[in-house]
Order: sequence, then structure tokens, then C-alpha cells
Amino acid sequence: MQHFLSVHDAPDIEALVQEALALKKTPFAFDQLGKNKTIGLLFFNPSLRTRLSTQRAAQNLGLNTMVMNVGQDSWGLELDEGVIMNGTSAEHVKEAAAVMGKYCDILAVRAFASLTDRERDYAEVTMEQFKKYAGVPIVNLESATRHPLQSLADCITIEEYKTKPRPKVVLTWAPHFKSLPQAVANSFCEWMNRRDLEFVVTHPEGYELAPAFLGNAQVTHSQEEAFAGADFVYAKNWSSYHQYGQVLTQDAAWMITQQKMDLTNNGKFMHCLPVRRNVKVTDEVLDGPQSIVVEQAGNRVWSAQVVLKRILEGL
Ligand code: CP
Repeated sequence: MQHFLSVHDAPDIEALVQEALALKKTPFAFDQLGKNKTIGLLFFNPSLRTRLSTQRAAQNLGLNTMVMNVGQDSWGLELDEGVIMNGTSAEHVKEAAAVMGKYCDILAVRAFASLTDRERDYAEVTMEQFKKYAGVPIVNLESATRHPLQSLADCITIEEYKTKPRPKVVLTWAPHFKSLPQAVANSFCEWMNRRDLEFVVTHPEGYELAPAFLGNAQVTHSQEEAFAGADFVYAKNWSSYHQYGQVLTQDAAWMITQQKMDLTNNGKFMHCLPVRRNVKVTDEVLDGPQSIVVEQAGNRVWSAQVVLKRILEGL
């Protein structure tokens, strides 16, 4: 594996999932693989799980880690080419990425969507610039349109908890008062569409995801219909793609309740976290026996570790 920016860098998801599950059983089996090598973790945005799980995964492989909050610990970065740099950004990504590539063998980057300029967000400017200038493998720690390490952890979690060969997996929009990116939902669709399962997406009208990500997923505007017989319910809020970045509704009727979970096939409740309690999902569901959100977050270590292992093997 050279870079890990999307599902397109993971041609064999099943093998990746099985290898991740094997690493979960023997976390230190490859603790010499990263010896004398360093990964740099660059955060343009906050993180709990991604930051700590990726560091833990790197440490399990013997990698040194450097972590930097871009623009807080470092200079603000200019990403556009040919600009007169008389604004707030003191350094261009051209030099910054190239310099960091001299210090690190792998660079991992988190850079969220602006939610103001769809064309620019969907062009993945930050990831593409790092890929162009760093000269080392780049790992996506959540970009404007994707969160592939999360999606791989979700695949691992579904594999662990499924009770039938071809489970029904539902991605449901859930209400939120802030404008949130489409990245987790987009990425989840991309990965689920490549797995052997029944995949249904449900959301209020106006929250249609980009067709390139939605693929052949079934779509319904009836949450109850989607939940019927579901083996997994994956809740996430996202802002509108077509009316880009807008919050079109905060309808509390879309919140995940136990009454709705009772429509499922004793389905497991998943969320990438962080989650706003009693906004997206009730305490009863989150604290109940069907919730596997903590186990899901725990699997972020194994998704990161298998990806870093594959990259290290290619260096
Ligand atoms: N799910 C996830 O990416 O969590 P963080 O934003 O805390 O990293």
C-alpha cells in the first residue's frame, strides 16, 4: 500500500478486515516493523479517537510518532498555488509538506470540509497537496469528503458482531443543530457498497448524498421502514450536499430511540463518536445492550494498525 486516502487504496477489504482481526489478537507481532521510522500526525481539526488510536497503532508497530496541531503549534498553511501570501497563512504547503516529509516516513493528515465551497471540498485540496509535495505516504485521518480509517473500523466491527452471513446495515441521518460534514456518511457508503450485505440509507428529503458515494445503496425517507429487521443501525448527522453545508431540519423525530431500535432484528447501534446525547440518540439506546459504540471506537486501533503495517511493508 502506498497511500491510504480512500477505499480505492484498499482493493481487498475482506483481507484487510481479517488481518486487522488477527492484529487485534496479537498486537505486538510486528513490533519491529516500524523500528527507526517515524509517522507525523497532522491535525487541522480536533480529534480524540483518531489521534489516540493512530498513535497507539503506530506504537504497536514500533513506529515513533510526532503530533502537530497545524496552525496552532505551527504556522498557518497556504494551500493554493500562485497566491500572494499577504494574508494570515505564513507558510506554503509546498515547503511545509516537503520539509515534514524529510522528518517523517509517513504523514497522516486530518483536514475537514469548509462546508462553504463544495467544489473545493470535493476536490480534496489539502490531501492532494500533501500527496503532491510530501514525498512520503499519506494517510487520511478524515478529509473533506472521507474518513476511511473510520469506515475500515466499522467493517471490522460489523464482521465481529454480525450473526448472519449477509446482515442488513442501515445508515440513518440523525438530527443536529450544527452543520456537519458528509465525510463519515460518504465513506461509510463507499465501504458498505463493497461488502456482501444489504445496505439501506435513510434521511429526510434534502439530505441526499453525492451520487458518487451513495452508489447503489437503497434509499428511503422512512426511518421506520429502514429499521425494520436491521442488524446494524449506524447513526450520523450530515449537512446538505445539494444545498451545500446547510442544516435543512433539526427534526427531533429522527432521533434514535429505543422504540425505533425495537423495530430491528435486535440490531446493534453504531456511531463514530463523538455523539450528542438526547440530540441524535437517547441515553437509553446509547447506554443499552444494543449499543456497540465503544467497541467500535476500540477497533480504530486495528484499522489504523493494519493500514500502517501495509504501508511500512511497502517502504
Ligand atoms: N470518530 C472520530 O474520528 O473521532 P475523533 O473525531 O474524536 O477522532
